[in-house]
Amino acid sequence: MAIRNIRMMGDKVLEKTCRPVETVTPRIRQLVGDMLETMYDACGVGLAAPQVGILKRIVVIDTDGEHPHILINPEILETSGSQTGDEGCLSLPGKTGTVTRPNYVKVRAMDLDMQPFELEATELLARAVCHECDHLDGIMYTQHVEGPLRDVAYQEEEEEE
Ligand code: NI
Repeated sequence: MAIRNIRMMGDKVLEKTCRPVETVTPRIRQLVGDMLETMYDACGVGLAAPQVGILKRIVVIDTDGEHPHILINPEILETSGSQTGDEGCLSLPGKTGTVTRPNYVKVRAMDLDMQPFELEATELLARAVCHECDHLDGIMYTQHVEGPLRDVAYQEEEEEE
């Protein structure tokens, strides 16, 4: 596995609609492994393939550091409720903004064996599913943000230096 370069907001690749995965080739497996490693390395809770420059409908999410979710060709089937809170993106480091999302989502996706499964998510996981699925359609959270973007202070990193 390898850490890939994360594309930053303004890169046109983040504005494109991604193509569905037809078959999970060894290259796709490698990509998914690299996406997980890249997400953990950047201390993110989710990453979509276009963020590493690949226009395929693949997202990885891990909101608690213990349960990685790999979603290939994800489709949101149901949403309900709403939550309003801060959101950020590895493609726009150092910034956060207020976004309202559903508090519950049911998503259908394929796993690495191209077997379909459904995931029900609430709270942060629901937020992450919505955020990452948006990336597959070229949408950044900044398009949903309420009010101004704010700077995030990375205190822990500063203390280490
Ligand atoms: Ni993002």
